[in-house]
Amino acid sequence: MQIYVTNDYEAMSRRAAAVMAAQVIAKPDCLLGLATGSTPVGLYRELAAGCAAGDLDFSHVRTANLDEYAGLDGTHDQSYRYFMNKNLFDHINIDKANTHVPNGKAPDLEAECRRYEALLKELGPADMQLLGMGHNGHIGFNEPADAFIAPTHVVELTESTINANARFFADREEVPKKALTMGVGAIMRAKRILMVVSGADKTAAVKAAFAGPITPRMPASILQLHPDVVLVGDQAALAGLLETGVAVCG
Ligand code: F6R
Repeated sequence: MQIYVTNDYEAMSRRAAAVMAAQVIAKPDCLLGLATGSTPVGLYRELAAGCAAGDLDFSHVRTANLDEYAGLDGTHDQSYRYFMNKNLFDHINIDKANTHVPNGKAPDLEAECRRYEALLKELGPADMQLLGMGHNGHIGFNEPADAFIAPTHVVELTESTINANARFFADREEVPKKALTMGVGAIMRAKRILMVVSGADKTAAVKAAFAGPITPRMPASILQLHPDVVLVGDQAALAGLLETGVAVCG
């Protein structure tokens, strides 16, 4: 695992964007696995700036997102499709037909999971999978559970995740209770994982995930088994992990 520690969120965003930009430059038709949430917003802003400056070309890039809320369609301002358009796709020269997000409005969610999993297999392994991490160690919406689940599946969100998401909704009752998520299978098939973490509130989860036991109770801990993980985080988020004496790259 390569660990990069930065002073703050902005520096984390720049460093992580540089890692992803290098991927896009090295392989212009790469498949990027993408994440939503607060953490990658700065990274996406940096990528958009790189594209505006003419340094990055997304015209052949393909993307597949990790997850989507059940019950929200892509025009809902809290849907992850809307988030991706607003934070990245509307600002880069990507062909939206090459961007994929599970359909939260599908009438049959189980069938939608099967469709998305088949699509992921057809697209092939992601060249780079971007991940954030929940306070409980979730990746995508793979919540703490008794077992790791490999394929795309429907999840009941935990209280902790619903509470964390409530900040984006006017009323807590509006926060979706279910989501569709890529399973750990497609995440672990990615050739390279780029995880971004920021803030002191993540430090316990980051330490448990990378220095604790590998267990589905801490879903991100499965990344210890991946051969190529790049972890980019600010001091506050990495403080706990750094206490364990792990080597850092910069
Ligand atoms: C969203 C996703 C989630 C988030 C996680 C952290 O697509 O995959 O696992 O990465 O909930 O969210 P933030 O970045 O808002 O702390």
